[in-house]
Amino acid sequence: MSRIAYVNGRYVPHRAARVHIEDRGFQFADAVYEVIAIEDGVFVDEALHLGRLHRSLDALRLRAPMSDAALRVVLGEVVRRNGVDEGIVYLQVTRGTAPRDFAFPAAARPGVVVTARRKRLAEPKLIAEGVRVITIPDIRWGRPDIKSVSLLPNALGKQQAKESGAFEAWLVDRDGNVTEGTSSNAWIVTAAGEVVTRHADRAILEGVTRTGLRHVMASQQLRLSERPFTVAEAKAASEAFLTSASNFIIPVIAIDKTAIGDGRPGLRTRRLIEAYAAYAAGGGQDAP
Ligand code: PDD
Repeated sequence: MSRIAYVNGRYVPHRAARVHIEDRGFQFADAVYEVIAIEDGVFVDEALHLGRLHRSLDALRLRAPMSDAALRVVLGEVVRRNGVDEGIVYLQVTRGTAPRDFAFPAAARPGVVVTARRKRLAEPKLIAEGVRVITIPDIRWGRPDIKSVSLLPNALGKQQAKESGAFEAWLVDRDGNVTEGTSSNAWIVTAAGEVVTRHADRAILEGVTRTGLRHVMASQQLRLSERPFTVAEAKAASEAFLTSASNFIIPVIAIDKTAIGDGRPGLRTRRLIEAYAAYAAGGGQDAP
């Protein structure tokens, strides 16, 4: 099946999909995006993703390109046309095309791009073996809570992780606290059994998977501490893991050169992976 993308009102072959050279997303990263998981043909937490999209649009003073109902139709149509049963859909909204000028154009129609691709979400090998992360300084702009396409520090960090044989880089703020990963949220389980992830302030993206897992934990009366944690505390933790819509939950078995716990995916993490899998299979909180 050949891939189809949605670009500004049209469904086009992926290889022929184009945006204008003066699209502000291209020139200024003046754009926001979402990545939504699809499991068994069903969107996982679509409403939470659309809610976050609106917060990102508002933060950039960008107009919604269409109603949520219309957006859901387009997302569903791209997924259907690409035959994606399990995978991810990517949605990007830019301020549109206008002659290059830093200030907003007086009149530009928002640009919309949607793509979808098949992908194994809960990858058995990653879950069974866990992954390594490195730690690097968090050099991002002051608003990583907005899901904008301003992702250069994230891309540089991910490349550094890859070249170090790691799966992800955890970003560290000036106080020595881990904020999050380049494309995932960071979690630890302390030796005392406390599950910890950084509180969602302006320093991190409030992940939808993070919100979903919070929900799963609350429904099982499991306590979650949302607070800062240092690299030293993370390295002394008995378990660690990361969350994102594109991989759900992956155990972390080493941070820099330090093994976490016994260097294998932890029991608490594996239980959370199972519980989250059941939640995602039901569509998350959007479940009918
Ligand atoms: N990234 N933090 C950052 C910086 C991210 O880019 C992401 C997601 C997350 C996790 O958010 P969520 O659970 O909503 O996916 C946290 C997506 C997957 C991406 O850019 O591809």
